[in-house]
Amino acid sequence: MTAFSVLLATTAMSVSAKEFRIAVGDGAGGTQEALGLAFIEALEARTGGAHTGSLFLNGQLGDEQDTVTAAATGTLDFSILAINNVTPFSPTVGTLTLPYVILSLEDAEAITQGEIGQAMVDQTIEDAGVRIIGWAYSGFRVLTNSKHPVTSVADLQDLVIRVPRNEIMIETYKSWGINPTPMAWSETFAALQQKVVDGQDNPYITVYAMKFDEVQEHVTNLRYIFSIEPLIVSEMMFQSLSADEQQQILDAGHDATIASGQFLRAEEAKIREELAARGMAIVDPENGEQEFIDLATTAVWPQFYDMIGGKESLNEVLTALGRPTVE
Ligand code: MLT
Repeated sequence: MTAFSVLLATTAMSVSAKEFRIAVGDGAGGTQEALGLAFIEALEARTGGAHTGSLFLNGQLGDEQDTVTAAATGTLDFSILAINNVTPFSPTVGTLTLPYVILSLEDAEAITQGEIGQAMVDQTIEDAGVRIIGWAYSGFRVLTNSKHPVTSVADLQDLVIRVPRNEIMIETYKSWGINPTPMAWSETFAALQQKVVDGQDNPYITVYAMKFDEVQEHVTNLRYIFSIEPLIVSEMMFQSLSADEQQQILDAGHDATIASGQFLRAEEAKIREELAARGMAIVDPENGEQEFIDLATTAVWPQFYDMIGGKESLNEVLTALGRPTVE
């Protein structure tokens, strides 16, 4: 290479170098940040440092649901958010939010990284104008509240619980006998602090990243939703990239997905212990959660068959997980 061609190559690289903006709904220390950092590291490695990204934590670029619209219209490059906040824009991913469908990290990895996950990716591009390129795994959404221990459905009845603006989650609490309060994620900490609501549910890692232990004392180990948090990219922006750049982004997303499973396996138990050490009182639901399971699966699943693309969509997931299908 002559000095001139080196100069040309360097100039071309710097002209096309990109620093992507990545919205993150949660605070530092959580699975979303871990996924984002792993993605940036992989992207830099795969592009020889040409492309990188910056994380904007704590909803600085907008509430999680708003970032889907921003990415779809091309005003935002990437966002990391909970799948329940994608569902309003792409109903078929609702299967991942149906209560008691995903019952472990292994279930979550098998579905999202397999054929069903790929079909959800394709459908979400069509429905919402965003492409899922990576998945974070955050653990079960445990219930927290500031009033008293909850081990049964009866214990829930005097509590005002915040839920995301997600019909499946709203109907799940209704099946347990209470009317939850739908609220944007970005407003949740203040609402808990000011006691506008008594409680909410999210994984231990999210409770920790959002410092909810400062405003919530009681934790119930509910297992109704295993939280899955995708990294989405604006399809408009993605299509403006070269084929090589697209592949680098897809590969970096895959690397970050693998790192996310490792992060959860390494951190969840430690974080749970840390929250207990900070004074959170953790209990299990009585009778192996059976009352919660029976009410939610009986009342909620049938209501959403149409929304998720038919009962067969749920059965496909159950079959892939080796579980009995529904009639
Ligand atoms: C929510 O509860 O709205 C989300 O699950 C929060 C999150 O993204 O961690």
